[in-house]
Amino acid sequence: MKAAGKAGLLRPPAFSYRPRRDIRPRLSNRAQLFCESVSLERLAERHGTPLYVYSAEMIRARIKAFQRAFRAVPYTLCYSVKANSTLGILRLIARLGAGFDVVSGGELERVLRVKRQAARNVVFSGVGKTVSEMELALKAGILLFNIESPSELRTLAETAARLKRPAQIAVRVNPDVSAETHPYISTGLHEHKFGVPIPEALVLYREAAKYPRLKVAGVSVHIGSQITDLSNFQDALLRVAELVRQLRREGHEIRYVDAGGGLGISYEGLQQQFAEQISAYAEAVLQPLRGLDVHLLLEPGRSIVGAAGVLLTRVLYRKTNNHKRFLIVDAAMNDLLRPSLYRAYHEIVPVSCRSQEKETTDVVGPICETGDFFARERELPVVGEGDLLAILDAGAYGAVLGSNYNTRGKPAEVLVDAGKTRLIRQRESVKDQLRRERL
Ligand code: LLP
Repeated sequence: MKAAGKAGLLRPPAFSYRPRRDIRPRLSNRAQLFCESVSLERLAERHGTPLYVYSAEMIRARIKAFQRAFRAVPYTLCYSVKANSTLGILRLIARLGAGFDVVSGGELERVLRVKRQAARNVVFSGVGKTVSEMELALKAGILLFNIESPSELRTLAETAARLKRPAQIAVRVNPDVSAETHPYISTGLHEHKFGVPIPEALVLYREAAKYPRLKVAGVSVHIGSQITDLSNFQDALLRVAELVRQLRREGHEIRYVDAGGGLGISYEGLQQQFAEQISAYAEAVLQPLRGLDVHLLLEPGRSIVGAAGVLLTRVLYRKTNNHKRFLIVDAAMNDLLRPSLYRAYHEIVPVSCRSQEKETTDVVGPICETGDFFARERELPVVGEGDLLAILDAGAYGAVLGSNYNTRGKPAEVLVDAGKTRLIRQRESVKDQLRRERL
């Protein structure tokens, strides 16, 4: 298998093919996909499919690579909860000393559930914070509110005054730089709903400084997600650096620059060593800020958890319609929406390599929508009904984008850590789904 590479490593250090000796002679020595030292076939047998499986070792390695790349400057890594918000994942990340980027009261509640003291390293982003979400964040004592409009600034000022709580704020600026990514996840152009154009931001900072409970503390920027051209970050931060200088000239105390998230991963598995990629990213972010003496905030999501997760699914049926082949699997767009929503590419591999033969096929789910697919016209090793497939790089924006469409329960999630596996989310039953409905 090409994707398995010479060492059998598919997504190092988490997922690799290993020979699995089996008591059944038919299966002996057949290469099987493992997460760390745990057989994915075993996990599927134990927990059923569809099943998300995450590698703690991979998440740790990613966080540590960030920590190494930025160690020369004062910074706080605020993991972007939206990428994967399962409590077991958040706890792992909190234990590594990270803070969090949240975009809703619900995400903040998750963080508080995992570690109450983590609140002081939480930044709250998003264009539509409600008063009750602001109240929750003010009471929890979060680090920073990223403000996205004049109306939001006023609402926060009133809420903070009513609760008699201080709020540190940054204005999220829209630097008007394009990021070459999918149009749905690009955010830094003037036509997008996000952020405040830089000239208007200056006015907003002046206004913010007048409210007694608000403290101007930083400048924030986020230009989009799945960005692989690092010069986009550099362009945005050059503009931010200029704004920081200007704000300081006007007498504002700017301590923080929040550089957002957005660092892309390779869904083709052609990853350069993450350590190299992250140090190039650090250079792109830090170079424009040199000499500014700011505390950097980072909000990575995908680059921490994306490659650390797979979605396991079983082939239900093989089907041919006028020579077009379909593998109908038991996972669907409600479990992993990215291919349907963005036409995103996810590599798909068999868990057990039974055949050297290949075929071109669509991989589709059982949902009644033509858009319910994971791959179209994909060349894959031939697999049979009942075989397991792994959809790779599903750790970010996978489980979190799940829905109950077609009254399908959300899948179970398992975290593998040093040979141990923990069920961090139970499979959702129909009973769970019906609980809040009334006849
Ligand atoms: N900070 C802010 C303000 C954001 O809006 C986002 C992502 C992040 C940080 C984290 O970005 P990351 O490092 O993960 O790229 N559902 C889409 C991605 C949406 C990203 C939304 N914002 C996908 O599946 O590709």
